Amino acid sequence: MIRKKLIAGNWKMNKTASDGVTLARDIVEAIGRETSVDIVLCPPFTALESVGAVLEGQSVKLGAQNLHPEKNGAYTGEISAEMLRGLFTSHVIVGHSERRTYFGETDEFINKKVLTSLANQLKPILCVGETLAEREGGSTLAVVQRHVECGLAGVTAEQITAVIIAYEPVWAIGTGKVATTEQAQEVHAYIRDLLTKLYGAPLAQKVRILYGGSMKPANAPELLAQKDIDGGLIGGASLESRSFIDLVKSAVAAGGFPWFSLRAAGMRPAIPWPAGGAFRNPPPLRNRPPDLLPARVPSAGRARWTTPHAGRAVALRRQDRRDRASHRARPFPSAARHR
Ligand code: 13P
Repeated sequence: MIRKKLIAGNWKMNKTASDGVTLARDIVEAIGRETSVDIVLCPPFTALESVGAVLEGQSVKLGAQNLHPEKNGAYTGEISAEMLRGLFTSHVIVGHSERRTYFGETDEFINKKVLTSLANQLKPILCVGETLAEREGGSTLAVVQRHVECGLAGVTAEQITAVIIAYEPVWAIGTGKVATTEQAQEVHAYIRDLLTKLYGAPLAQKVRILYGGSMKPANAPELLAQKDIDGGLIGGASLESRSFIDLVKSAVAAGGFPWFSLRAAGMRPAIPWPAGGAFRNPPPLRNRPPDLLPARVPSAGRARWTTPHAGRAVALRRQDRRDRASHRARPFPSAARHR
């Protein structure tokens, strides 16, 4: 089963709105059209709107770092799902260990956030993972099981593929101490087994499980090559464009679709790339070089495409529409009923 890799940057409490714009611009310039892996930026709430404007029309998506499960009301300082959707946010991190530790978030509360995200077409990135004491006490898998099962309570089979799970061993976060590939793969495989028990193998195979905790360009290729590691949730290394871009490139090399992997490796496919490499992910119409602009001539009836590239011109327009649609959060089956 090929799962598209996902690299998400969790900026935590870093970057003002204008610093965020600078960083997002650098990222977009380098990898804004990359579609062989999914890329998500999660700035603080105060930078969501300005960073969202930079991402408009690009394939990089916008994520938030938290949400409140209630629809609205007297919850000073909190942000609702509807507010996030209003800024075209498509993903939201829930249950990060920093929220569990410093803000006392419980599994039940986190579960409400997961359900609220899904009900509002936001893809939750559910964070799970053990502390150092729990690992040393031999309870890693029990803790992860509790986080996964409680976090997903009431999530239906229809909804589960919209959920992304991030395994983040707390002892590896911000410490420079990364889990070994064996340690990480063991827990990822365990999470996949849990999902298989809950939802059956075909669905469990579709859910992406990210690794988070001191992931850097140097250790990413080995981690991303593991069978059950489908990407990364990146803290420190997402705050600097160079390292984040390198992480995305590692993900492309590790798991982009074959067509794109060839391109990432600088190789040519048997069938030549469409002109300008623009077919799959074209620049917006207004920036398109003249040879790719479809010509239209006025006619009495419906306008007709007249270039020898007529078919391609239509495809380019369709792709344009798809690009724009994918920037907004894509709806997925409604969350009317929970198990
Ligand atoms: P670091 O990459 O800084 O260890 O942070 C990981 C993390 O907490 C992402 O959510």
